[in-house]
Amino acid sequence: IQPVQVHFFLHPFSVSGRFELWDTDDPVPRAELLKKVRGVDGLLCVLTEKVDAELLDAAGPGLKVVSTMSVGYDHLSLEELKKRGIRVGYTPDVLTDAVAELTVALLLCTSRRLVEATHEAKTGGWGTWRTLWLCGYELANSTVGILGLGRIGVAIAERLKPFKVKKFIYTDVAPRPELANMINAEYVSMDELAQQSDFLTICCALTPETQGICNKNLFSKMKETSIFINTSRGGVVNQDDLYEALATGQIAGAGLDVTTPEPLPTSHPLFTLKNCVILPHIASASYTTRNAMSVLAANNLLAGLRGEPMEKELKL
Ligand code: GLV
Repeated sequence: IQPVQVHFFLHPFSVSGRFELWDTDDPVPRAELLKKVRGVDGLLCVLTEKVDAELLDAAGPGLKVVSTMSVGYDHLSLEELKKRGIRVGYTPDVLTDAVAELTVALLLCTSRRLVEATHEAKTGGWGTWRTLWLCGYELANSTVGILGLGRIGVAIAERLKPFKVKKFIYTDVAPRPELANMINAEYVSMDELAQQSDFLTICCALTPETQGICNKNLFSKMKETSIFINTSRGGVVNQDDLYEALATGQIAGAGLDVTTPEPLPTSHPLFTLKNCVILPHIASASYTTRNAMSVLAANNLLAGLRGEPMEKELKL
């Protein structure tokens, strides 16, 4: 079987001698998905689809493999999948470069206030050159903190290093010396991470342990001049606490590629803040990467259906 080449947003399709493609950019409505999965052997999904007991029950006992076109898998009920003996494929590594690149772009955009600046230039706010107008914070001589050091955190640090960052620090459930040595990063406690970071970038997976971990307690320990960046999952942040920290000047700015919910309603208070840059979950959105993710997800699915090792399989 040839690898399935797909472009942009591949929505769930089923394979059982035939396959069905949800061929639009919009997520498949839940009711429709629950109907369409009945009796399938495999399911390829994206991160907008909740793969939970309800969906697995709807699919029935023939479902052997779920392949998600994402590195994150917080939309999958792993316990339910494991219980049913269903294998799971995902797409790490192929998106690391694109996500790291976007994280750096978002960090610079936030710290150097680029959205505010283009708005001022376009709307007549650009008067004479002013000494402190639109000043931000620079990376040179800074300390960059990484919450959750994995492939993506390392890739971000590698890209930030040439900006003359003084020190990289990180925290995780345990030290990760192999990865940390690649970027000469020091393991610190969560409190030290908050206190020392000039830039704090969130790279951890969303799990019950990391849910809401970026909260009042964390923000209150951060410097007033620090910049908070999240390209992992919105659920790791308590958004009310973040709003408070940004609105009261407890921290200097935030750049978010992920929110709760997604899309974030345009009426959300975070959109009223000049020091908050919000992107619509586009970290892996380069043509090259989305194509690589699609091919990997399709190959994982096919390997799972054939009972062969998948290129990237989650150990449940
Ligand atoms: C994107 O957020 C992903 O998990 O791939």
